[in-house]
Amino acid sequence: MTGMRHLLGITGLDRPAIECYLDDAAAFWEVLGRDIPKVPALRGRTVVTLFLEDSTRTRLSFETAARRLSADTMSFQARGSSVAKGESLLDTVRTIEALGVDALVVRHPAAGAPHRIAGWVDAAVVNGGDGRHEHPTQALLDCFTLRRHLGTGLDGCRIGIIGDVAHSRVARSGVRAFSALGAEVTLIAPPTLLPERVETWPARVTHDLDAELAELDVAYVLRVQRERDAARRLPPLHEYYARYGLTEARAARMKPHAVVMHPGPMIRGLEVATTVADGPRSLVRDQVRAGVAVRMAVLFRLLGSPAGGDDA
Ligand code: NCD
Repeated sequence: MTGMRHLLGITGLDRPAIECYLDDAAAFWEVLGRDIPKVPALRGRTVVTLFLEDSTRTRLSFETAARRLSADTMSFQARGSSVAKGESLLDTVRTIEALGVDALVVRHPAAGAPHRIAGWVDAAVVNGGDGRHEHPTQALLDCFTLRRHLGTGLDGCRIGIIGDVAHSRVARSGVRAFSALGAEVTLIAPPTLLPERVETWPARVTHDLDAELAELDVAYVLRVQRERDAARRLPPLHEYYARYGLTEARAARMKPHAVVMHPGPMIRGLEVATTVADGPRSLVRDQVRAGVAVRMAVLFRLLGSPAGGDDA
């Protein structure tokens, strides 16, 4: 893969490009297993996390990844500020850039914000989640986790993505990445939590979780995004759990080697039973661990060459 300046989405990445990130992540995974889990690859570079929406694992994961590569890090959180307005976002970004940064990891409630920022700055921009749009590093870490777990590629792997697909950037990026790697994806959701134009997605669609369970190799459970407008579209919560919750009884009906994934944060007892989330099928903690290696791979690819790479 030739150099790319930004990582804004899975859209635009083909299978070799995705595999390239995963192969690099495997090398960094090995680094993370060493006594001193750190390499000097990005010494002297500065990575800023610009998070205008709440996050625990994504921000910490990017900052950990940057430090494991010996980059300096800065963290900007704009809780309660007015940066969501276009011009002040521009000012914020220009100010941060003037401090001398090489990469900006952006999370923003508006779809497309990282793309706009990429047009304003010389620094590399990584999309850390924009509205309902994309969350490419989540998709890459999910592919990495599955590839490691399966010990093979994802070809033919049956992945059910369950729940609030409508509001999920994780689903949007995940479907693209999983299907690019040859997996067969089924979206499993109530009609009100499916996005418009879902027929254009590279996935089957069904409303019936119980009918799918025995076929799935992976149950990928999504968070119900009550802070977006999911509350309005959601069946009553007990009904949601009854039809779409990954209960212990449902998990027991899956294939013996089938696994359960969730991007976090999990709402236990609504999306997934605690015993399933913490049970032997769960890859949730592996996903978090994989996040650091994958984000190291992304930062290294964007910043690792002295010239900074070509335009995306
Ligand atoms: C997701 C996100 O913020 O998009 N979380 C994450 O990054 N691991 C999923 C979610 O919030 O539902």
